[in-house]
Amino acid sequence: MNNNTKQQYTKQQVINRYLPKQTQAGQHAQQFAPSNIALCKYWGKRDVALNLPVNSSLSVSLGGLGTQTSLTPASTSADEVWLNDEILPASSSFASKVVAFLNLFRRDLQQPVCVKTHNNIPTAAGLASSASGFAALMLAINEFYGFNLDTPTLSAFARMGSGSAARSVYTGFVAWHKGSQADGMDSFAEPLSATWQDLRIGLLKVATGTKAVGSGAGMQRTVETAPLYAAWEAQATQDMQQITDAILQKDIHALGKTAEQNALSMHATMIASWPPLLYWQPASVAAMQRVWQLRSTGVPVYFTMDAGANLKLLFTADHTATVRAAFSEMTNADVVAPFECG
Ligand code: PMV
Repeated sequence: MNNNTKQQYTKQQVINRYLPKQTQAGQHAQQFAPSNIALCKYWGKRDVALNLPVNSSLSVSLGGLGTQTSLTPASTSADEVWLNDEILPASSSFASKVVAFLNLFRRDLQQPVCVKTHNNIPTAAGLASSASGFAALMLAINEFYGFNLDTPTLSAFARMGSGSAARSVYTGFVAWHKGSQADGMDSFAEPLSATWQDLRIGLLKVATGTKAVGSGAGMQRTVETAPLYAAWEAQATQDMQQITDAILQKDIHALGKTAEQNALSMHATMIASWPPLLYWQPASVAAMQRVWQLRSTGVPVYFTMDAGANLKLLFTADHTATVRAAFSEMTNADVVAPFECG
């Protein structure tokens, strides 16, 4: 069956199959979800309505950095959405997205809800928070309405908020299987059992300001206009396997090489789009060159990048001092140890 003949589902149709007929709001729910950095990127949707990906992807979560979300019954007659201790106008883009997502899960729209979201990701790090945001919201909705959904289902539902949120319902290394079903319920993430105590992620912010094209619009433009995109799925499939092997062997060279090449290949497809999509700033290119320079001296440091101008450095704990000396703009808090407790 090809895509033209496949049945198309809406989010609501899929979700309704898993929810009780009536929903009963609880008194308080609070959940945390970590931010995640893709080592093998999700880039391109096979179904735009459900955020179903063309390729599987693999990420590492950022430990204690992420989003904490609480739900309580609102004391006023309307929904309330708070972000980092500030109430947002209902018309703001953040509040509308949160309420639209919440509406997919509650039957009784007469019971207003107060949603409070806190991001503890260093704002200076320039990291997107939609992955941890939708994952935390999904986990909190599940608790608030007492759905008791299993984690793969929560992952598939979080994916409907933002694709990469499918991976943020877990910690550590996480693989998001692309799936093949039209309803997307086999497109969910699962954690890898492997850990890597010494792995470090350096959050290197090189540019400020909001980007003109978000990741969703960016991937759509790439899929529709970039001839290079035809090569992406096969490469991502191969990269996914190599990254999994590198993690199992704790081989920073193999992990770094494949993750860096995967990110640059994704950016190559963006640059080959029309109109061209270039998220890099001059400072991004300068930072890449500093990474390559440091690597030429024998330091195993690599980078990955998402749909933005900033870099995330990949290295191991024994090289932290050298990497920090070379990138002195990175503070202690910008170096994340994903598998260290506490
Ligand atoms: O989840 P979205 O729709 O914001 O897309 C994320 C896309 C990338 O960050 C570029 C790659 C990824 O896998 O996270």
